[in-house]
Amino acid sequence: MNFHILTLFPDMVMRGMHTSIIGNAAEKGILEIEAVDIRDYTKDRRRKVDDYPYGGGAGMLMQAQPVYDAWSAVAERILGAAAEGATGECTRENGEKRRVRTVYVTPQGVPFTQAMAKELAAEEDLVILCGHYEGIDERVLAEIVTDYISIGDYVLTGGELAAMVIVDAVSRMVPGVLSNEISGESESFEGHLLEYPQYSRPECWMGKRVPDVLLSGNRKKIREWRTAQAEQRTRERRPDLYRQYEKLQQCREILGRKKLLHIDMTELIVRGKARLVAADGANICLRDADSGIYFLTAESPEAGRTLLDGIPREPGVLLVLHQEFLCGPAMEHLGTNKRMDCCQLVYTRREKLSVAGLYCEEQTAQDGAILIRKLGPEYADTVFAHYEMAGDPAYIRERIAKGCMFGAFSDGELAGFAGSHTEGSIGMLEVLPEYRGRKIGKALETYMINRFLEQGYTPYGQVKAGNEISMRLQESLGLYAAKEMVYWVGAI
Ligand code: ADE
Repeated sequence: MNFHILTLFPDMVMRGMHTSIIGNAAEKGILEIEAVDIRDYTKDRRRKVDDYPYGGGAGMLMQAQPVYDAWSAVAERILGAAAEGATGECTRENGEKRRVRTVYVTPQGVPFTQAMAKELAAEEDLVILCGHYEGIDERVLAEIVTDYISIGDYVLTGGELAAMVIVDAVSRMVPGVLSNEISGESESFEGHLLEYPQYSRPECWMGKRVPDVLLSGNRKKIREWRTAQAEQRTRERRPDLYRQYEKLQQCREILGRKKLLHIDMTELIVRGKARLVAADGANICLRDADSGIYFLTAESPEAGRTLLDGIPREPGVLLVLHQEFLCGPAMEHLGTNKRMDCCQLVYTRREKLSVAGLYCEEQTAQDGAILIRKLGPEYADTVFAHYEMAGDPAYIRERIAKGCMFGAFSDGELAGFAGSHTEGSIGMLEVLPEYRGRKIGKALETYMINRFLEQGYTPYGQVKAGNEISMRLQESLGLYAAKEMVYWVGAI
């Protein structure tokens, strides 16, 4: 990922960003951070970039021209075409329109959150504009800025520290930046709970002992203790977050009454991705913070209609319905006739599956064995060409970039692939025709199940109605099918 920081103090930014984890990631080429000196773009003979505000008032304003020219130079480099102004849209050489994501850091912005960090990490390039003095001429902001972001309700002397905060938080969500990939996903704010307290050696420091449970080696007890601590800490320090958490826990309990049918919704809550849109008893609507997909369950068509009222009628909206009677009203609501029926399957045990004779991983590679490893961007076209249900190539590219697609290789050749969908299910399983009948599907599915278990997730997947081969494979691995179906409606 590339960060382009427009600033009057490039040294301050570069000095701050080239140490520790972010510095290492930049050295490895995972991140690129450049600070562009806005002053280099002034047309003023004395290199002036500021002037008095019209209408009077304290201090000086940064002028539009140098900011716009600095931004245009960066946008042109990113897109290989001349920037056209308004909302940072540019036309590429091939005629494709693309927006340059441009953040202006300002106390007048939207408060920065972990969810925003995650979302921004999906960009290839991010421009961050730092203001100074009393701000920047509004006309250039209207022309180039796509997002106004504040890092808190206080005023800094300039935007540089705020830009560095954003670069840091976004960078750690970029695959490969953190050495332990999971740690970027499982910390404060991800599950509506603050993180539990942690302890390291020595066991006793200044008379204070590490809690016994952490030395017990009992994984279940440790997990329970950590959850209780996280709950207590959140209740005391962030009652606003705790109220959300409590509501979602109530939903989780209700959804658990039909566990297999609702596993997709429950897992959104467990993984901290669920945003509560509406809940009234057993009538629940959740939105996945990552994919934007809405998940609905209702007791009656009337209750379903009430839930649908809270969903925007926009072109890209996608719904997962848990009762067939919701399909008609939902299709009417969105003005679509697109519907796909699926069976939900869940691996309910905690023990990993045996991989003996199925595959090995890079560390344990053996001659002639099937090797499973993460797929790189060079496989995007092959995956797209072979994945029967592929809709949007950009989705496949995004899944690969996020490190969520895995390939099975036979003698160095791609034989099949599988991955995890944005909302959290296992899917995209495909074995290339010439490799069928060699247990490669079973190997990939086993790999995905074990990976989910390692991350503390419940493995589940959805199989399109009528795909008997996949149903048999899932059931042979011990997954249980829900009796009722789920229905995808909208931008499938
Ligand atoms: N610039 C000055 N203060 C700021 C803040 N709180 N957040 C973002 N940018 C700023």
